[in-house]
Amino acid sequence: MNNFTFQNPTKLIFGRDTIVKLAKEIPSDKKIMITFGGGSVKQNGVYEQVISALKGHSYIEFWGIEPNPTVETLREAIQLGKDNNIDFLLAVGGGSVLDGTKLISAGIPFDGDPWELVLNPIRIQKLIPHAAVLTLPATGSEMNRGAVISNKITHEKLAFYSSHPQFSILDPQVTFSLPPYQIACGLADTFVHVLEQYLTVTGESPLMDRWAESILQTVVEIAPKIKENSHDYDLMSQFMLCATMALNGFTSMGVSQDWATHMIGHEITALHGLTHGHTLAIILPGTMEVMKEQKWNKILQLGARVFHITDGAESERVALTINQTEQFFRSLGLPTRLKEVNIGEESIQKIKNRFLEQNILLGEQQNIDGFVAEKILKTVME
Ligand code: NZQ
Ligand code: ZN
Repeated sequence: MNNFTFQNPTKLIFGRDTIVKLAKEIPSDKKIMITFGGGSVKQNGVYEQVISALKGHSYIEFWGIEPNPTVETLREAIQLGKDNNIDFLLAVGGGSVLDGTKLISAGIPFDGDPWELVLNPIRIQKLIPHAAVLTLPATGSEMNRGAVISNKITHEKLAFYSSHPQFSILDPQVTFSLPPYQIACGLADTFVHVLEQYLTVTGESPLMDRWAESILQTVVEIAPKIKENSHDYDLMSQFMLCATMALNGFTSMGVSQDWATHMIGHEITALHGLTHGHTLAIILPGTMEVMKEQKWNKILQLGARVFHITDGAESERVALTINQTEQFFRSLGLPTRLKEVNIGEESIQKIKNRFLEQNILLGEQQNIDGFVAEKILKTVME
């Protein structure tokens, strides 16, 4: 097991009708900016619940943080925050609104352009405290300090790290309005978050392995039931908790991590706008196939413990586990080949060249360069 430091200060407030608790969590002397996406919260009643909970508080609203939040939109929010001396941020939405708000939190006290903070988070001087009302289980942004920000001019989509939300409110009832595609992408994202921290080497920590496997098993078990009925409170509660637990640091203590699938996925989103979770469902089986020698024993363990693949020669079990993983994504309703989403050779070359130019090296052994990324993408072409 590797050395590690673990600290996660986010307070989770989970359950039915919990949005009302906002009033107590945010001190009444704070000048709040509430941040929103494109308006889903006005249709599902979340907006009314938030506003009624904050009666008596002083707040302004910022609307329009888009999926894959752009620095262009966030500059406007930062300016509004500066003009109004905002000292508390409340994100109400999915991972994009939460991520965008993390940049706003660093951008309000910063004198330069916020993109500089994405490129160089070490320049973050101060952070405005932020919290969240989560409406989409997927990213784990509600309990981690990560954020992914896009730039429309440079076509980049880059991860940066600021601070954890002070608290996050998770009421599974708010997920009932999610479209099936977003649910599928959220389940895929959750599943791949765990695998990025698990599918590396064996024997580093049996505890972390079993913790990760418990999330994977739960996702595999609930996914078909959610497809049947996405308004089942208990099922959506398990989904929401899985998504949070998948990327809040609880499964990564002292173990190797990969993240190549995510980094290649971000490139696809930057080039084509394809939803984040869907990019992962396409790329992960390719990463497993191309990196299978390196990940051999862990793939066997995944096969045995999550997909119950225990018979046959090792090579057969590895092949079957990769296939089962892809079939799991397809069972969610997500196409898993680049050709099915009209992405071709030209994009593969762009990604390869960008990785090579910037000397990007990914994976648990830092041996996935532009050429290997190209191989991975070609494997999942058709
Ligand atoms: O914008 P609105 O109108 O709210 O609609 C959103 C959006 O169109 C809609 N939606 C959200 N909650 C809903 C709802 N529709 C109906 N009912 C609800 N309850 O869903 C659409 C997608 O929302 P978005 O926030 O973009 O999805 P997600 O939560 O998957 O976030 C994706 C972003 O998070 C980043 C991704 O790269 C992407 O930019 N990630 C962040 C991570 C992190 N912070 O740690 C890690 C992840 O790996 C990921 O990279
Ligand atoms: Zn993800």
